[in-house]
This record gives sequence, C-alpha cells and structure tokens, in this order.
Amino acid sequence: MAFFICFLFFLISSATACDRCVHQTKAAYFSKASALSSGACGYGSLALGFNSGHLAAGIPSLYKDGAGCGACFQVRCKNTTVCLREGTRVVLTDLNHNNQTDFVLSSRAFMAMAPKGMGQHILKLGIVDVEYKRVPCQYKNQNMALRVEESSQKPHYLAIKFLFQGGQTEIVGVDVAQVGSSNWVFMSRNHGAVWDTSRVPSGPLQFRFVVTAGYDGKWIWAQHVLPADWKPAGVYDTGVQISDIAQEGCSTCDEGTWK
Ligand SMILES: *[C@@H]1O[C@H](CO)[C@@H](O)[C@H](O)[C@H]1NC(C)=O
Ligand SMILES: *[C@@H]1O[C@H](CO)[C@@H](O)[C@H](O)[C@H]1NC(C)=O
Repeated sequence: MAFFICFLFFLISSATACDRCVHQTKAAYFSKASALSSGACGYGSLALGFNSGHLAAGIPSLYKDGAGCGACFQVRCKNTTVCLREGTRVVLTDLNHNNQTDFVLSSRAFMAMAPKGMGQHILKLGIVDVEYKRVPCQYKNQNMALRVEESSQKPHYLAIKFLFQGGQTEIVGVDVAQVGSSNWVFMSRNHGAVWDTSRVPSGPLQFRFVVTAGYDGKWIWAQHVLPADWKPAGVYDTGVQISDIAQEGCSTCDEGTWK
C-alpha cells in the first residue's frame, strides 16, 4: 500500500495535477445491451439497472484490473450535426479488448450523445470521434451498497462487491472484521469489482477500505454492514458514501462543465 501511494504521488507530481483530464478517442457501441451484463466487472444483470443503462466497456488503462469498475465518465462525440455538447455520462462495467476505441458504449449511451430523435443517425455512423473525462459518480440519497456474491459459503468463503460507489475514486484495499473486533482480515480482488477471502470472521461484520483521494489514499470505515445471518445474493447498505475526488496527472485539464 505504501508503495502504491508513493507511486501515485510520483505520477501526480511529475505532471499537472488534475481531476478532469480530457482524452480524445473514438467510441463504438454494443448492439446488444446484454453484452454488457456479462461484463468483466462481474456486475451481471444488475449492471442493466445502473445509470439508466448508460454503460461502457473501457480499455485496460480505464479498467485498471477491476479498480475502474463503477467509475463514471462524461463522453461526447464531435460530429456537430449529430452530437450534443454535453454528451452523456456512462458507468464502466466491462473491459474493452478492442484497441481501436477507448470505449464501447451500450447503444442507449451511444444514442444519448445525440439530441432526441437523432439516435438512429448516430447509430448509423457506428463509430464516432469522441472526447471524454472522468467525472464524479453521483448517487442521490443512496449509500454505497455491498452485495454478497452467490459463491459465498459460510463459514469458509466470502465474496462481495460494492455497488453505487460515489465520488471519483478507486477502492484499492478492503478489510473485514467482526463488529467490535480489531482483528481485521484483508480481502483480495478476485476479478472485476469482486473482493473475496477464505478467512471469514463470524458474527456481524464491519468493513474498512482504502480509496484513492486527493493526491493520496484514505481509509473509509463502514461500521456495521453485514448481519450475522448474511445471505448470498443479499444487498446490504454500508451506511457510508464516498464523495472524494482523486487527482491524476495530465496535460489537457478541463475543469469546466460540458453543457
Ligand atoms: C456527421 O453526421 C452526419 C449525419 O449523420 C453524417 O452524414 C456525416 O458523415 C458525419 N460526419 C462525420 C465526419 O462522421
Ligand atoms: C490491435 O489489435 C489487432 C488485433 O488484435 C492487432 O493485430 C493490432 O496489432 C493491434 N494494434 C495495436 C496498435 O496494438
């Protein structure tokens, strides 16, 4: 962890610190929305309910071995005939293996880059020039939630993922302990957004996690999340939400709002 934070700090201090780096690329779309529900992040069909189905698969530098899952981006295309200046906001739910475009969007998100009624025109183009920047995820009146994966099996195995993660951060470490205990057990990223451990504390469980924040990392403590009788496929309120914004280094920084 110390290494990670130093490394991050080095990256930032060696370039202009920015929380809205603008990237130029192209974007394509998935003709089937269901393509994204089998996404690498492991959200499954839950993903279809995120952000009104405005989803994206991102290249490895955005996916970040799963740490980028759930990140939000504002994406706008550049054809002045068919594109809105504000573009649309997407949530990352999948890894894009195609090296022609940084993003493959759900068709809903792709059409949302165009004014109402122009959706079919933009779909016809198939692939468009876009620019994008990371933006904070906003979940109004919604705490971050924790979902217990079906593969979890008391008392041997616990796999979880976080849903509705606000802010503009990445979760880079997760620990779990029985409520009231300081015997923290670290969890490992299994794949995508899924964290797991085979050393499962008994009783009700609390979690703490490290998120990237500002130039540095920050601990967030969710004090009472899982009841003693937690169930696979259950979704539990963590009681906390994240609003931190992590900085990155880049040369084209755009703090303005696209509208
Ligand atoms: C911009 O969109 C119009 C209308 O769909 C299309 O005819 C034109 O070829 C597009 N321009 C580019 C550069 O893609
Ligand atoms: C992009 O991917 C294709 C097919 O996987 C590969 O042949 C090509 O070399 C790649 N291009 C770059 C620039 O990595």
